[in-house]
Amino acid sequence: MSTPATGPSARPRILSGMQPTSDSLHLGNYLGALVNWVGLQRDFDTYYFVADLHALTVPTDPEVLRRRTRITAAQFIAGGVDPEESAVFCQSHVHQHAELGWVLACQTAMGEMNRMTQYKDKTAKGQNANVGLFTYPVLMAADILMYDAAYVPVGEDQRQHLEITRDLAERMNARFGEVLRVPEPYIVKESAKIMDLQDPTSKMSKTSSTEKGILEMMEDPARLAKKLRSAVTDTGSEIRFDPETKPGVSNLLVIHSVLSGTKVADLEAEFAGRGYGDLKKAVAEVVVEAVTPFRERMTELLDDPAELDRILARGAERAGLIAQATTTRVRDAIGLLPGAR
Ligand code: TRP
Repeated sequence: MSTPATGPSARPRILSGMQPTSDSLHLGNYLGALVNWVGLQRDFDTYYFVADLHALTVPTDPEVLRRRTRITAAQFIAGGVDPEESAVFCQSHVHQHAELGWVLACQTAMGEMNRMTQYKDKTAKGQNANVGLFTYPVLMAADILMYDAAYVPVGEDQRQHLEITRDLAERMNARFGEVLRVPEPYIVKESAKIMDLQDPTSKMSKTSSTEKGILEMMEDPARLAKKLRSAVTDTGSEIRFDPETKPGVSNLLVIHSVLSGTKVADLEAEFAGRGYGDLKKAVAEVVVEAVTPFRERMTELLDDPAELDRILARGAERAGLIAQATTTRVRDAIGLLPGAR
């Protein structure tokens, strides 16, 4: 076990979460988020959770939610998050998230939520919004502020949510004294932006990519290889990294480079004078090599849901100690009676 859950920690704390909204991460999520989480474990006190309460903001079948929650947690671990090192837990198991979310909601102006671009985008696309979707960023602020997180690694799409989190922490502190730690924004610069295989000018994305454009971590290796064989390439025949004029080939080079650890320039040299077919074959090999151990570990984890649930229970216990301390501090600061402890 790493640092104790309460008291000053030698290492700054990092928190991040992922919604249980699919049956498999795709390669872009894996390389863009999870690999980064894994790398942070050594130098930080890390808390990683499945944002199951956030998943309720869209209509969800209970069986599907249960399955995807376990899958999402298992993916953290299969991807290299070590539950002995990091607290791995479900948001809903630490009931203080909802409580702090309420307190923060009462500090949030309607106009602030109205301005949130993600909400505006979703409703503009015709999504039938509920109040939970509207206040989604407040719950996210609670997730973050609960743990006195120093940094919150998230993608660019979450920037506005981090800003409102900081605003809410500052507002609480100004009104009630120093109760919440203001987290530093830490937008993860995508070292590798993985593009859609069929439309290599757009990001690989669960919501906008087509079936053939996306590589899922839990997919059958033969299918992955097939998708790579039919990836869109560019006119000409030269294998060169140039996202402007050769987005398809450049994407394949990036995927290979990130997974194999070979520099793009070295790959260009290796494939000089060879055809697109050779490159696709080589990329398929490195992809299959990377997903195979991941799939194996996933299968092990999902075959033993009781053990997975125990891991999540331990994570929630560890997170709960901090959550308890934070909510006690907040309750006291805002004038709620302590009640029974
Ligand atoms: N909103 C995040 C996403 O969709 C998930 C999330 C919820 C989160 N709470 C969080 C991420 C707290 C970081 C910190 O990706």
